[in-house]
Amino acid sequence: MAPERRPLIAGNWKMYKTRPETAAFCAAFLPLVAGVEGRDVVLCPPAVCLETALAATRGAGVGVGAQTMHFAAEGAYTGEIAPRMLAELGVSHVILGHSERRQYFAENDADLARKVRAALDAGFTPILCCGETLEEREAGRTEAKVGGQLDADLAEVDPAELPAVTVAYEPIWAIGTGRTATPETAQETVAFIRRRLRERFGAAADRVRILYGGSVKAANIDALMVQPDIDGVLVGGASLEAQEFARIVRFVEPA
Ligand code: 13P
Repeated sequence: MAPERRPLIAGNWKMYKTRPETAAFCAAFLPLVAGVEGRDVVLCPPAVCLETALAATRGAGVGVGAQTMHFAAEGAYTGEIAPRMLAELGVSHVILGHSERRQYFAENDADLARKVRAALDAGFTPILCCGETLEEREAGRTEAKVGGQLDADLAEVDPAELPAVTVAYEPIWAIGTGRTATPETAQETVAFIRRRLRERFGAAADRVRILYGGSVKAANIDALMVQPDIDGVLVGGASLEAQEFARIVRFVEPA
């Protein structure tokens, strides 16, 4: 975490919670984080709960983001949601390229380049996910994999726009496994990501927020946020429970 980058704590609810459960979460969570300053907080519920989350968080200083979107303005894409539909709701962020989307829904880098472009054009903050499998890490291919994803997915972004992008490093072997990357391992790859962005985009890379994701919980948040290049976290399972997520949001600022 560096002073020029405001920390971002985002909850990715994946395919959990109905509308009543979303409302109940917000009713429990918001009082627990009221008055917390110096950090951005974003909830990313399932698409059908976006409106409920937006209504429940209005005026509370908590953003709401989508978990995916299509790149086209509209069209014959059954089941998909267009950027302008999310914009009309009032969504501020959109997660793109989550490993579960890449793995189970065949989201590829060519589509992601268009999605990142569409997100910026719609005025959203894209939270672009990248990360390696355990096999890739053990084969020493972490940087090749992550670097390749970033090169491809940010192909349509200009240096001046880069600070509007947030990157989330999520090693696939740490997602939902309880096996968090150690803060040092996470820092190492996040620092690599920033170097890679600096090579291509120059000084704008120092203003990009880079998050860590993968088994983040109340017990490890403080150690992660102490790392110099980790500007926040993308939290799955631990963002579903109000007390636990509030403690993550209330991470202790390093002195
Ligand atoms: P967990 O926090 O459940 O490991 O999930 C991480 C993740 O995929 C967030 O996008």
